Amino acid sequence: MNKRTIRDLRPAEIKGKRALVRVDFNVPLDGARITDDTRIRAALPTLQLLIKGGARIVLLSHLGRPKAKPEAKYSLAPVATRLGELLGKPVKFFPETDTDGAVAATKALADGDVILLENTRFLAGEEKNDAALSKSFARLGDFYVNDAFGTAHRAHSSTAGVAAFLHPAVAGLLMEAELNWLGAALEKPKRPFVAILGGSKISGKIDVIEAMLPKVDGILVGGAMACTFFKAMGFETGTSLVEPDRIDMAEALIERAAFRLTLPHDATVAPSIEAAAKAHDVKRDAIPAKEAMLDIGADSAESYTRAILAAKTIVWNGPMGVFETPPFDKGTKAIANAMAEATAKGAVTIVGGGDSAAAVEQLGLASKMSHVSTGGGASLEFLEGKDLPGVTALDEKTDK
Ligand code: 3PG
Repeated sequence: MNKRTIRDLRPAEIKGKRALVRVDFNVPLDGARITDDTRIRAALPTLQLLIKGGARIVLLSHLGRPKAKPEAKYSLAPVATRLGELLGKPVKFFPETDTDGAVAATKALADGDVILLENTRFLAGEEKNDAALSKSFARLGDFYVNDAFGTAHRAHSSTAGVAAFLHPAVAGLLMEAELNWLGAALEKPKRPFVAILGGSKISGKIDVIEAMLPKVDGILVGGAMACTFFKAMGFETGTSLVEPDRIDMAEALIERAAFRLTLPHDATVAPSIEAAAKAHDVKRDAIPAKEAMLDIGADSAESYTRAILAAKTIVWNGPMGVFETPPFDKGTKAIANAMAEATAKGAVTIVGGGDSAAAVEQLGLASKMSHVSTGGGASLEFLEGKDLPGVTALDEKTDK
């Protein structure tokens, strides 16, 4: 990575200084209860390193998608409590973000203290990457750390704009690890290199397929998006989710990709998600008119497993079916298990964030992967070959 990281900072640049750290604490909540704290745990190495170095840590994050004004259900207060438990020390919470009061609170910190400020998306300028707000954020720290890989694809004031007004501006350890794992897979993969792409919509994955085709040895497709390809092949797709405006695109892709694009040979279908008891497998050209594909079939799960076990680098983004509802979780489970086995055999296995990361977490297999990304949208944009504004804004390695 050509960006400076916190490991490039001298001890004197850290000790007694206010580290303004942008983290991605956009975690799922059930009321005030955090249902998955993966993203909070992922920020710990950076925070522990800064605490050890004697920094005074000021944390910024967004949570959810409030409409540029405070909304109680999107307050970060519950996150401060959970972070305190994980760090084993109290984390202060301040219910404002860029006010004079917030600046004063950052100036009252002692070495090693941690304070979390309120949701950056309560402020109108955040998502507009407003320069005045970026400048105002810069008052909260003496240097800037971006560890929010999950939000690095957003050009917002707290993720990108602030770096123009506050230096050093460096990457945190999570950001560095994410970029190194994904970057190495794309730039120098051990071969065979296989990508598995699932999810419901082909529209969200077209750019990834296009960008990855020249790099990979094979792409395995799953999820409802396979049905748009099936439609392009002239098959009946029943009541499956199909994107009619993407059928031509799917047809062109099949032609161009030739043998490198593998579609499921069979599908698990049912009249509806609720009618799970009626689930059965059919060949892909035999989807009944009144049923929908809700998972890849058992034959496909088996052949995808074989392909995964034969590969040396595997990148996975998007579930194979409606994995929240058994038995439509079988395909996703098969992929997760095959990846765990491939890791044990020495392959590099990377799970993109979002639903597929949630699936491996639920299955208790996250620790069996080489890397599980904390960024859904961000990892997809990275795989598409796009620049991430949150990374671009940071200091180059050569900068002093
Ligand atoms: C995510 O959950 O993917 C990130 O936190 C970004 O959130 P956003 O899609 O609301 O920008």
